This record gives sequence, structure tokens and C-alpha cells, in this order.
Amino acid sequence: MPQTFTRPTPGFDICALDSLFEGHEPRLAHMRDAAAFARDLRPVFDLEAGHGTLLERSALLHDIGYAPALRRFGYHPLDGALFLDGQGEHPWVVEGVLRHSQADRKTERFPGVTEEYALRQPLSEADWLVRAVTVADWRAAGVGGRVSFARRFQDIAVRNPHNPDKVRRAGVMVGEVRDWFLEQAGEMGLKRPLPWVFCDVDNTLIRPGDRLSDATRAAVGAYRQAGGEFSLATGKHPLSIRPLVRELGLSSVQVAANGACLLGADGVTVLAHLGEAAEGLRAALEGLGLIIAVYREDGIEPGRMWDSGLDEVFDRYAEIRPVRTPLSGRVLKILCITDGDDLRREEELRRLAAELGVDCCRSDRHFLEFLPASGNKGLAARTVMEGRGWPVLHSIAIGDTENDEPMFAMCGACAAVGGATEGARFGADWTIGRCEADGVADFLDRLRAGGGWRALRSGMTI
Ligand SMILES: [Fe+2]
Repeated sequence: MPQTFTRPTPGFDICALDSLFEGHEPRLAHMRDAAAFARDLRPVFDLEAGHGTLLERSALLHDIGYAPALRRFGYHPLDGALFLDGQGEHPWVVEGVLRHSQADRKTERFPGVTEEYALRQPLSEADWLVRAVTVADWRAAGVGGRVSFARRFQDIAVRNPHNPDKVRRAGVMVGEVRDWFLEQAGEMGLKRPLPWVFCDVDNTLIRPGDRLSDATRAAVGAYRQAGGEFSLATGKHPLSIRPLVRELGLSSVQVAANGACLLGADGVTVLAHLGEAAEGLRAALEGLGLIIAVYREDGIEPGRMWDSGLDEVFDRYAEIRPVRTPLSGRVLKILCITDGDDLRREEELRRLAAELGVDCCRSDRHFLEFLPASGNKGLAARTVMEGRGWPVLHSIAIGDTENDEPMFAMCGACAAVGGATEGARFGADWTIGRCEADGVADFLDRLRAGGGWRALRSGMTI
């Protein structure tokens, strides 16, 4: 990759984006998320600041050709590139827009477009940037939000049920783009050999009620010994995972309460809490006759309907027992015991969460969780890595349910255990062995033996 940075030309005024995309805000949101992802790609491509700025700019502008006012050929990569070129934009930024997501290979259906591309020689020195913009495009959801490669493909498949050809092409493309990322991610391994693994606990690392297996303990130990980092990322109360942290010998920071807090050597750090919504939510759930447990930073409080038989369920999940005395800490989450098969109730509760401005996700067939909108496992994992100056994309998430998806979206890659919910499997880059068959241990051993990112590729069977 060339190391000389060309001084940026005046270029397009970014402030004009809002008016260009008036009425097309989801597209602009997608472009901004691609730019945010591109920022995380800097260490992946080992970029110096100037090149990082060009990449981020090209990712931000990659779909500018969709702005109705810029339409010329009706082919957005070309329309965008022609416009930006006319604005005096840096040639690498223009190149990223012109060729992103293999745009130069899809021109046949647009009259005059193949000829326009033939007039422009590819800039080989910006080849890395075209690839990086493409990776960013495939990690930003079509309507905004950050997603895994697999989730981006699933969204396309769901939106285009009557266009199997488009879905097939997207499937091929996502595999190719993921492989570009995996290949490039190996660069980060030169400084830190193995990615940071964030691993869900219940039904991913351990079956509730079982003890940690010898194979898992050994695999985590060997992974850390070889230079990898490993953190638990769980919905459990931070105080519940202390014994497991000790047993695994972890010195890293753990993600608990679904990302509402961290557990480190110096105790619990709250990242997000339910705030004023907690009381209204508690009253509404109890008004519906539901059994709840209120997770506070200093312990768990049972709801009015709590039945002491449920203490044993918590014991089985290795969760600390709710205490009968009122606690004072901030509310990290509210766990509601309700069967996932009751679809009417599920819909009602999800509506309630939306009305109160809190997040809601299912972590088990029996558990629905109400969480602060500003906290999730993905954001918490990011905080952990940033605290250590670790590149955010030099990471792999492993999980089994909906509440693991924000972590799948945040990390460089992600895997679901066999037996995970359909949503989690469809959103993951790979499905690994089942929890009860030490799937995580096998995956860690494979990563370690294969030299981290080099051990992974699209479409592999694990
Ligand atoms: Fe895009």
C-alpha cells in the first residue's frame, strides 16, 4: 500500500448531504454508518491518518449517486463519481465511489455505462480503498445501523423474496467481501496474534446447571497463553459471574447484564441503566401479573409475584438469588419470566418497551429482558477494547440468541453455537459446535492452532 498522502483537494461540501437526501434519510443513515465502520477499519488496513481520512470520506460518499438531484445515467456509483469528480474531490475518494461493491462488474443493464467505465482506468494504488469501502458498505445495514456480514445478506434475502437471482448474487458477494476482510484482518495479528473473543455464557459456554467442562477451561487457558484475550459477555448479574471468572483465570474486563455494566478487577462499572423508565416499567409488568426480577448494580430484587421456587431456577442458572431487602443501586435491567411461545404477550411486551423507550430482547425461551436503550453487549465490548487500545474489529463474538446480535454487529466476525436460535445462526458468519459438545473450546483451539484470522474463511464448515 502506498504510504504517501496526497493533499486533499477542496472537494464536496459534506454539509450539503442533508439537503441532497431530504426524503431519503435511511440511505444517508446507511452512508454515515459505512463511514463509522470505515473508521474502525483504519487499524485493519494499518492506515496512516491521511489515508484513513480518504477512506472514511469515500465510505461516507459511496452512495451519493442515489441523490435524485445527481441522477445522470441512473447508475448510482457512476453518477456519484461523476458528480464528485466535478466537485474537485480527491481521485481516490472518487475511485472508491465509482468501483465500490464491484460496481464496475455490474454495468451491462445500464445503457452507456459500460462505455463510461471503459474510459476510466482503474487506479491500482487505490485498490485497497475500493476494497475497504466495499467492506464498510457490507457492514452497514441498508437502512442504517451496523450489522454482521451475514445479517446484511439476510436483510437482502428477506427484502427480495421474488428475486432469487439478486439473492444468489448477494450471497456470492458477501462471501467474497468477508474473505477480503479476513485476509486483511491478518495484518492486525502481526502485533497481537489472536483476536479478542467475547463469549456469551448460558447455552454458549456452559449449559445452565452444568459445570464448566475441562475442555473449555483448557481451551480458554491455552488461547490466553498464546496471546489471545477472552471476555465473558453475558446477561447475568456481574456478581453471578465472579466464580466463573476465577475458575477461568481471566484478568480481562467482563461484560455483564447484557452490556449495562462491566466487571473488572476493581468492581462493577455501570455503562447504562434504565433510569426513570424503571419504575413505570416495573409497575406495568406487575400490573399484567408478570413475575419479574429487578437487576440493580448491588444485587437482584424480586418482584411482588416472585415465588421462592424460582430461587432454585436462579441457582440452576448460577445466577445470584434475589434478596428480600430493598436495594439502592441503579437498575441495569428487568428480567421478566414469560414464555416465548405466547406470541400475543410477546408482542404486547415489546410494544410496552417501545412506548417507554427501552430495549427488549429474549435471552431464553422463558426470559424476556428489558434493557437500557443506550446499552448492549456490542457497545460494552467496544468500551472494553477501547479501554485497552485494542482495535475494535480485531475481535470475534460467540453467542446463541437475539441479545448477542449487537455484539455480532460490533466485532470483526461472529459465530453462533449449534442449537442457537435461528435469528442468531442467520446473523453469524459461522455456526460452530454445540454448547454441550464444547463447541466454543473446539473453535478456540482451531483459531489458536491456525494463527487467528488466517484460520478463517467464508463458507468453511466448523
Ligand atoms: Fe451502500
